[in-house]
Amino acid sequence: MLDPRAKPILLSPPHMSGAEQRFVEDAFRTNWVAPLGPNVDGFEREMSEYLGFGTNGARLHCCATSSGTAAIHLGLMLLGVRPGDCVLCSSFTFVASANPIRQLGAEPVFVDSDEASWNLSPSALRDAIATLDAEGRRPRALIAVDLYGQGCDYGSIEAICDEWDIPILEDAAESLGATVHGRRCGTFGKVAAFSFNGNKIITTSGGGMLVSSDAALVERARFLATQAREPRRTTSTRSPASTTGCRISARASDAGSCSRSPTAWRADARTSPATRRRSRRAQACASCPNPCGAARPAGFRR
Ligand SMILES: Cc1ncc(COP(=O)(O)O)c(C=O)c1O
Repeated sequence: MLDPRAKPILLSPPHMSGAEQRFVEDAFRTNWVAPLGPNVDGFEREMSEYLGFGTNGARLHCCATSSGTAAIHLGLMLLGVRPGDCVLCSSFTFVASANPIRQLGAEPVFVDSDEASWNLSPSALRDAIATLDAEGRRPRALIAVDLYGQGCDYGSIEAICDEWDIPILEDAAESLGATVHGRRCGTFGKVAAFSFNGNKIITTSGGGMLVSSDAALVERARFLATQAREPRRTTSTRSPASTTGCRISARASDAGSCSRSPTAWRADARTSPATRRRSRRAQACASCPNPCGAARPAGFRR
């Protein structure tokens, strides 16, 4: 039973270096308080470099969004999720991982966790796919969640998904800075989503990012996230929206993104308080009759 006096272990409270206020003041002084602008561009470029997508046309791999949920929503659209589809999803996660599946009219099929890591269990994944296959159903996508700053067992998960041709959307909302065998979270799967809300490793107050090694997919995300609006060709007042059906407004605000510079650079440093909280969480769970989630297998860094 929970001790009502016990202090909660927070996920990752906002951490300000002191420089952020100046960046916000600059944004207001130069009137960059609209959606998009140089701060969003800079944030996308820095994240792209940090994730190792390179510096050449770097921001082509990252699309800043209004939230992590919006990034997941866009990611599912990019993977072609449509009404009536089924989408596999980690069962132990924040509800935002699964809500966009429903918003797109698809059905979430939840896959159980591995007892040691709390993340998606590869054997449960295999069972879930086999069960759906016996019913004549093929999942359109898998959302694998890197919970509490720890990546999933992507070696096994990618092998299973490759076998069945199921694209992966990595929900790395909580895992900026973590690595799996030296590879950064957010670089697994066909697309990945980060969150920068107030309880994440770095924060822009509220925001997210869709990332992919496939620049064409990210280009499509930018288009869909700005109401599927075509670039202006004439001097007429408004650009027509060109795609029927799915189009959303999901791009980041420039004033919010301006806090990114000092914080994004320190993502590596920010993982250590997250690591400390993780071990406090493990200690707190140690008195539980069925302790779990404390394991950090070799090769996993958070
Ligand atoms: C695992 C996970 N997925 C998705 C989200 C959604 O992010 P946001 O709150 O930015 O929409 C969060 C955080 O809230 C999360 O923890």
